[in-house]
Amino acid sequence: MTIAEAALASSSTGKTISIPLLGFGTAEFPFASTHETAKESVVHAIKLGYRHFDTAAVYQSEQPVGEAIAEALRQGLIKSRHEFFITSKLWIANGHCHLVLSALQNTLKNLGLEYLDLYLIQFPASLRPGLGFPFEKEDIAAMDYESVWEAMEECQLLGLTKSIGVSNFSCKKLQNLLATAKIPPAVNQVEMNPLWQQKRLREFCEEKGIHITAYSPLGTKGTPWGTNLVMDSQVLKEIATTNGKTVA
Ligand SMILES: NC(=O)c1ccc[n+]([C@@H]2O[C@H](COP(=O)([O-])OP(=O)(O)OC[C@H]3O[C@@H](n4cnc5c(N)ncnc54)[C@H](OP(=O)(O)O)[C@@H]3O)[C@@H](O)[C@H]2O)c1
Repeated sequence: MTIAEAALASSSTGKTISIPLLGFGTAEFPFASTHETAKESVVHAIKLGYRHFDTAAVYQSEQPVGEAIAEALRQGLIKSRHEFFITSKLWIANGHCHLVLSALQNTLKNLGLEYLDLYLIQFPASLRPGLGFPFEKEDIAAMDYESVWEAMEECQLLGLTKSIGVSNFSCKKLQNLLATAKIPPAVNQVEMNPLWQQKRLREFCEEKGIHITAYSPLGTKGTPWGTNLVMDSQVLKEIATTNGKTVA
């Protein structure tokens, strides 16, 4: 399988990097419940041709993703780590300027990698340091975008990540961040599916050269927070049948 790629607006080096359009998500709730199956799933996905993997410190899937990459190298499924596009995310309890670098260093240690391809601020808010998921509403505070983004930029300049971006940012929040950013975010990863198309945000990001990555593209069917409307959509079922594919 060859997966199409998109160019990302980068970077401090002026080099263009590309992101495989189809990525493999590794969030499974409750987090950390599936270490061994997560590793097996990622190895299987590598065999199927996936090269873009999405993890996050809070998912606790960084270690199994790292083990799967090492396993793929051992088995000769890939020749080098450079064949992968690995995304991870800054957990918002570390969304304070003095905690960003050490959070990324810890992520790299979990993955057993020297660099990420993309490091995202997971949410546009900060939490009290040390807190995990779930958390109480009272523990959320406004993020100081200017100083946190500066720390993200420093991570890229140090070569610990090829690109930096954000997740769950609205147009307004992106606007605030862009007002002081020296390196603009390469990506905004947001919830997006055929029934939630984020038209305004897509137009805004296109205008600013920010690539959008859709998460929960199938609507996270079967969870209390998701919707069955995507997978049960009659229109999508008809398109799928016509093309001899599944809805997914
Ligand atoms: N940045 C963020 O804040 C954020 C938030 C959420 C997710 N994400 C990322 O996006 C990834 C995907 O999101 P998601 O897991 O929430 O939602 P999703 O991809 O919309 O839905 C996943 C669900 O779809 C079902 N599914 C998957 N492949 C299928 C297929 N071929 N046929 C039928 N059903 C299929 C699975 O159900 P079964 O379990 O029943 O097989 C799974 O529970 C995550 O793993 C994570 O990496 C990021």
